[in-house]
Amino acid sequence: MLRTVVCVSGGGTNLQAILDALDQGRITNVEIRAVISNNPGAKALERAASHGIEGIVMSPKRYPDRESFNEEFTGKMCELDPDLIVLAGFLVRIPPQMVARFANRIINIHPALIPSFCGVGYYGLKVHEKVLERGVKVTGATVHFVNEGMDEGPVISQKAVCVEEGDTPEILQRRVMEQAEWILLPRAIDDIANGRIRVEGDRVVSCT
Ligand code: GRF
Repeated sequence: MLRTVVCVSGGGTNLQAILDALDQGRITNVEIRAVISNNPGAKALERAASHGIEGIVMSPKRYPDRESFNEEFTGKMCELDPDLIVLAGFLVRIPPQMVARFANRIINIHPALIPSFCGVGYYGLKVHEKVLERGVKVTGATVHFVNEGMDEGPVISQKAVCVEEGDTPEILQRRVMEQAEWILLPRAIDDIANGRIRVEGDRVVSCT
């Protein structure tokens, strides 16, 4: 059983996709141990509670400085001792000590086709604003392992989504969520839980 902790910051639609996949048997061998949010008002925490999952708030705003938050956050994660950490719309930088302690055991969903539209400042709706500004015809989502960089870890999976005439950032975000994020993230978790992928150097390879 893969003990999993999911980190969230907002609406929690990606968390919901994971919970639905668990209920429907599209994810097996996974136990969600807890959901951690930096935002006490996150709807994602309500989604966790409705599913009987412990919600924990860890906000940098409650600490005198980032280093003390990083220490406390990493300590809490070590206490939970997950096999996998899933960043599902989590907007806080993962502490370097956590990345080191959970090497190749932290995954993230990014709402674009890495290496496009990613890195510092590219998160949530801002990503889709930049996609529309640039005028690209195809965007999508990426699931990747988290390393010490920003959106630079080994890519697990990607799915392309068409940009359509008249798209607003909100319309495009919804399409990328529905057609890519909510499909890729549960599938990646199930693949990891069932030993179908592994990291080889800086790439992800299939084990099947
Ligand atoms: C989504 O666009 C996700 O790709 C990004 O954060 C946004 C909110 O996700 N990482 P959620 O509804 O909180 O899962």
